[in-house]
Amino acid sequence: MTQPKILITRLIPSRGLDLIREHFPIFDISSHDLPPTREQLLEKVRGVDGLLCLLTEKMDAELMDAAGPQLRVISSMSVGVDHVDVAAATARGIPIGNTPGVLTDATADMAFALLFASARRVVEGEKYIRAGLWKTWHPQLLLGADFVGATLGIVGFGRIGQAVAKRAQGFDMRVIFHDPNAEPVYGANPVDLDTLLHESDFVSLHVPLTKDTKHLVNAGFLAKMKPNAILVNTARGGVVDQAVLYDALRSKRIFAAALDVTDPEPLPMDSPLLELENCLIVPHLGSASHRSRDMMSLLAAQNLIAGLQRARLPNCVNPEVYK
Ligand code: GLV
Repeated sequence: MTQPKILITRLIPSRGLDLIREHFPIFDISSHDLPPTREQLLEKVRGVDGLLCLLTEKMDAELMDAAGPQLRVISSMSVGVDHVDVAAATARGIPIGNTPGVLTDATADMAFALLFASARRVVEGEKYIRAGLWKTWHPQLLLGADFVGATLGIVGFGRIGQAVAKRAQGFDMRVIFHDPNAEPVYGANPVDLDTLLHESDFVSLHVPLTKDTKHLVNAGFLAKMKPNAILVNTARGGVVDQAVLYDALRSKRIFAAALDVTDPEPLPMDSPLLELENCLIVPHLGSASHRSRDMMSLLAAQNLIAGLQRARLPNCVNPEVYK
């Protein structure tokens, strides 16, 4: 029996690779640390039956057609699929796999890490020491925000938003959320977006990037936030209009922002956001824990294998392909 042709666009953790190897001994895997260029990808994808990609590769109609009609599955090692044209895949009968659940806790942890670091000025403090500025304990040095009794507003109350609410309970915070499709859990109360922005000391974003959430954080959104508020984004960079965020941070319209995600990624070194003391940025590390990344590779492998065996993907983004 001929082996299916498999392309794995980037090196993924061995947990997933080992499982794929048990089923299909031969596949094409990139040995580079950086994503393939678009040209390389369009070339490599020709004739493949199964494709395992990361969020760094755009999976659009052109790419699916370059692969050819035999393409049976696209499995992304990510929960977000804004890099995939899901409608184009559905139109071609291609199931798309993703990796939900296994990165929920790690991403909620990162939202809290950013919240704490930003509110308690951890990075500013570290820079202060390295710059040789630490002369004495000072009653007014680098004062930050309190958590107990503060209001945390969660925009998007899916798995990760709820995990953030669960953590906030332990810090005696008041939690409100905005998400028309979600039920209250962990003591969090649903509110409309304006109320959330007017009342929150911390605003944490947990919506997927879609055409409706693109630049959800615009000038109007930021104008409604409290001047002491901190914005945390572990969702997708495109949810925030970075130009207006820069203005709001520079003019101290809001106190600070902490971003795990930017648009584009990587953030160009000449981005004005990098000039700001009150903007903390880390390189898309939300799911970057050992266990999460191992499990993501495993789920991505399971989706790929199921697709190649023409079975239903365990985690399928577009189940309508099975109708
Ligand atoms: C990470 O951002 C993911 O979508 O998995």
